[in-house]
Amino acid sequence: MSQTIAVAADHGGFELKTILKEELVARGCSVVDLGTDGPGSVDYPDFAAAMAMAIRDKTAEMGILICGTGIGISIAANRFPEVRAALVHDAFTARMARLHNDANVLVFGGRTIGIEVAKDCLGVFLDTEFEGGRHARRVAKLNQHSSR
Ligand code: RB5
Repeated sequence: MSQTIAVAADHGGFELKTILKEELVARGCSVVDLGTDGPGSVDYPDFAAAMAMAIRDKTAEMGILICGTGIGISIAANRFPEVRAALVHDAFTARMARLHNDANVLVFGGRTIGIEVAKDCLGVFLDTEFEGGRHARRVAKLNQHSSR
């Protein structure tokens, strides 16, 4: 099934974004590129916000965010209720992010992850379904608690 995936990164993730876009196209995905469009310095919260809008408006089913470490852009993205952004480091964390957390945004540190590991994570993330059950109850509580 063809998926539409949004991608966004700051300058710390621009290079990896370019590589992963090719990987997505090779998998038959449609790609929505929310920037940044070059290696110049930009602010990661702007790209996290653009991703949140794309997920909220259903412009894309899922997203990929990248900054230097993946930390800042994760913090920023997870402030939006529609986003469950998971910073992953390997295939195991990518799989668990889908199985248990129903993550809809995959996050990488462009300066910390290897290209082949990132590609591996991407494939696992897109191919893994949410397990539901007790995890659905927990995921539902994420927004209940954050709106208190
Ligand atoms: C930018 O230099 C860097 O701070 C950013 O990409 C990210 O790592 C922040 O968390």
